Amino acid sequence: MAQKINQQTSRISVKEVFNLPEGREVTILGWVASKSIVGGITFAIIRDGTGYIQVAGKIGVTDNNALEALKKVTKESAVMVSGIVKIDRRAPGGKEISVRNFEVISPAEKWPITKSAIKSPKFLYDKRHLSIRGKKSIAIMRIRAEVILSAIDFFINKGFTLINAPILVQSACEGGATLFSLNYFNQQAYLTQSAQLYEEASICAFEKVFVIQPAFRAEKSKTPRHLTEFWMIEAEQAFANFDDNLKLQEELLSYVVKRVIENKNNELQILGRSLKEIKPPFPRITYNDVYEFANKKGIKFNWGDDLPTEVEREISKSYETPFFIIEYPLSARSFYHMTKSDDERITLSSDLFAPEGYGELATGGQRLHDYNTLLKRLEAQDLPIKSFEWYLELRKYGLPPHSGFGIGVERLTYWLCGLKHIRAATLFPRTITRINP
Ligand code: 4AD
Ligand code: MG
Repeated sequence: MAQKINQQTSRISVKEVFNLPEGREVTILGWVASKSIVGGITFAIIRDGTGYIQVAGKIGVTDNNALEALKKVTKESAVMVSGIVKIDRRAPGGKEISVRNFEVISPAEKWPITKSAIKSPKFLYDKRHLSIRGKKSIAIMRIRAEVILSAIDFFINKGFTLINAPILVQSACEGGATLFSLNYFNQQAYLTQSAQLYEEASICAFEKVFVIQPAFRAEKSKTPRHLTEFWMIEAEQAFANFDDNLKLQEELLSYVVKRVIENKNNELQILGRSLKEIKPPFPRITYNDVYEFANKKGIKFNWGDDLPTEVEREISKSYETPFFIIEYPLSARSFYHMTKSDDERITLSSDLFAPEGYGELATGGQRLHDYNTLLKRLEAQDLPIKSFEWYLELRKYGLPPHSGFGIGVERLTYWLCGLKHIRAATLFPRTITRINP
């Protein structure tokens, strides 16, 4: 069979077929996305890695054996189709292939993802290894890829260096509550929650760095916004303050949105999502503003606590563009945050929020760069100084004021695609209740 495929020197992609004139003979390889028989003509939609095209077989035009094979072919079988390019306004995209030859390369059993099965998210995710072939999930993954590629272009154009940080770590960046721990040759180790601490070390070598890599959280929360394994785009800059960091986030997000609109318009249409370009500066509201907003809405919580999910959702719904919540209390933040010079209870930190109720996309801020202040902070929060020794030592060797942030790839995709649940923003989601397939 492989030999047969290799012999097809004239094999082209579906995308290329659409650029050819009528009458050209072509061969494509792909999967049967759907099939129907109308008025004696057998139609199939074939999908390859570049798109979808209609093919049509009928008596007198299609080889007899080929026509029988086309009539019998099951959904999602891998096939080879040869035929002539025809212009047909009724066909999706305005072109179809009039089939001369058709061959099943690898047959599919009865496709289990039926119209009624689609109604059960559990079934769809149990069968995720198959359901990822659906039109919508393909569109979402292509948008996700554009998010990552556009972020890479953005940072490289700004002179940032791409690095990677270890996944197996001993120093917890975002607190003990969400750590996955493991036995590392009889030492306690964890799966990383964030590359931030390693980025902070790296800026003294590269000045400006970014990473795009997995992060892990043993999140007990079963919400539509939490995964246990996700990807994060993180950036860190030396000689950059809190404001510089907000500006960088605004520019990044505006650029990513622009690129998705420019390059993934078809995919957005498949998802029925319309996106508008956004421009800096984004609104900046303080934690105190949000505290008042919540009070007015009758949602009570203690000043200094993390914002309750309900408050985050309400405030996010009240905006039509992304915005920042800034100046969170230290009591609601990780140990590494710099505080305001005139108020030690308030951090120079931010959360970047998506509108429409989607909530937090990114967290960032200015870090402590002074040795003694950080040591006191670690002690005050009763953190294991030993595992932070290297991180502390950086503060003895020319670590300047610096800032950074992390933005979740799936959170961003979840918002850009207008999804109901973040698990759809990743091929094989890991959540509190799912580690398979
Ligand atoms: O807000 P987080 O916890 O911040 C940090 O990890 C910082 N150390 C980042 C930094 O400054 N370099 O996580 C950052 C982002 C969140 O805003 C969110 O987009 C995403 O990572 N994120 C999650 N995404 C999906 N599921 C989860 N459980 C997530 N936890 C965080
Ligand atoms: Mg956060």
